[in-house]
Amino acid sequence: MERTYIKDLRQKIGQQVCLQGHLQTLRDQKKMQFLILRDTTGLAQVAFYKPNDAQMAERISGLTAESALTITGTVADNPVVKLGGLEVQLETLTVENLAASPLPIDPFAETLPAIDIRLDWRYLDLRRAQNLLLFQAQTLAEQAMREYWLQNRFIEIHSPKIMGTPSESGAELFTIDYFDRKAYLAQSPQFYKQMAMAAGFDRVFEIGPVFRADPSFTSRHMTEFTGVDMEMSWIESHEDVMAFQERWLQYTYQRVKDELGDAIAQLFGREIVVPSVPFPRIPMAEAVRILKERGYQLPPEKKGDIDPGGERELGAYVKETFGHDFVFVTDWPIAVRPFYHMRHPDNPGLTRSYDLLASGLEITTGAQREHRVAVLEKQALEKGLHLEPIQFYLDFFRYGCPPHGGFGLGLSRLLMVMLGINNIRETVYLFRGPTRLNP
Ligand code: 4AD
Ligand code: MG
Repeated sequence: MERTYIKDLRQKIGQQVCLQGHLQTLRDQKKMQFLILRDTTGLAQVAFYKPNDAQMAERISGLTAESALTITGTVADNPVVKLGGLEVQLETLTVENLAASPLPIDPFAETLPAIDIRLDWRYLDLRRAQNLLLFQAQTLAEQAMREYWLQNRFIEIHSPKIMGTPSESGAELFTIDYFDRKAYLAQSPQFYKQMAMAAGFDRVFEIGPVFRADPSFTSRHMTEFTGVDMEMSWIESHEDVMAFQERWLQYTYQRVKDELGDAIAQLFGREIVVPSVPFPRIPMAEAVRILKERGYQLPPEKKGDIDPGGERELGAYVKETFGHDFVFVTDWPIAVRPFYHMRHPDNPGLTRSYDLLASGLEITTGAQREHRVAVLEKQALEKGLHLEPIQFYLDFFRYGCPPHGGFGLGLSRLLMVMLGINNIRETVYLFRGPTRLNP
């Protein structure tokens, strides 16, 4: 028999159906047995009247929570049933996989175990409806991003993650053994997405793994994460990149709201707010002044940068002043930006770059890139880089490379702000950190 999904049961009243899912709970009463079955579309009550078949009743009594079951039965309208006013009267039962008991963690417990314990048993933790919804939202968000890119003539690329040179800087770099030499894991697709501009592709995007050997244990850092990157040619400044990104994000939020807004409101208690465009823009120097005015002390050792506390304070200011969750912080000083960011012609101490903060959290860094090879070489040398290892990169700009820019966005960070989740470990399928490599 063809499988029916629980959400479609109402269309099958009076008919025989086949359901497949996990046994969330079993209520074994004197005369009746109630199995609450869960599939990816919801919960259903399956009922069995014990006197009908003592052997079946015994088999049901032996079922353990979270076992994987296939059942067949007849759908009955029953207004007293809390789950959709429906009940499936069980006819056959196949135990595909009996869950060992007790479960190492109870994903449905009122108080959940600590995150580290849940991550040890991630496949059980993921059985919660909230987690399923989170990854449905992520899938939809990625689809929406792709839709918007494709509507705007973008091409998808998949660049290598094994590299012969560091892709951002010497810091936070994983080195791997590569036959008789060393290689590096990509810290971003930066160089290779720019190569597509040299290749005349005009506009590209990539969603792929990014590796950072960052030893810190924060709620927003991982050693491996999914980077959402794009690059576009024939721009005039970083303003063109921001103008693209805000519309692309607005489209993505709208799609998630339209399809999953109700479910998110129900399970996360959170309304998806589609951001209005343009997002507020604040030059870095102004941001520093605002923070000072609000009595926020930036740590002196991070000169020219904004620390996480400063990001939160700035997010609060933007919310109060503009009623907006997003802000582009623009024109960062060269000291805190990589060599490939283009500088302002009238103020060479500043770059044509930005960070996008969402609810006070950095989710993106973007910039116009320096595409004039002589200037690029000079900037690399100023940063203390050796030209020899990046010669292949510098060569991209020798044979007709258009002006271009782009950004990188952390997918899990976007989910954090979209769904209001404080710890990045909750928003990634499997977390990778300094001390976590399993499962
Ligand atoms: O700010 P980042 O380091 O910028 C780049 O990689 C540039 N190549 C982007 C560009 O096109 N100019 O990384 C981009 C984004 C950050 O804003 C953040 O959202 C996320 O990637 N990110 C991390 N997410 C999780 N864990 C980490 N350790 C992250 N580091 C960066
Ligand atoms: Mg950044």
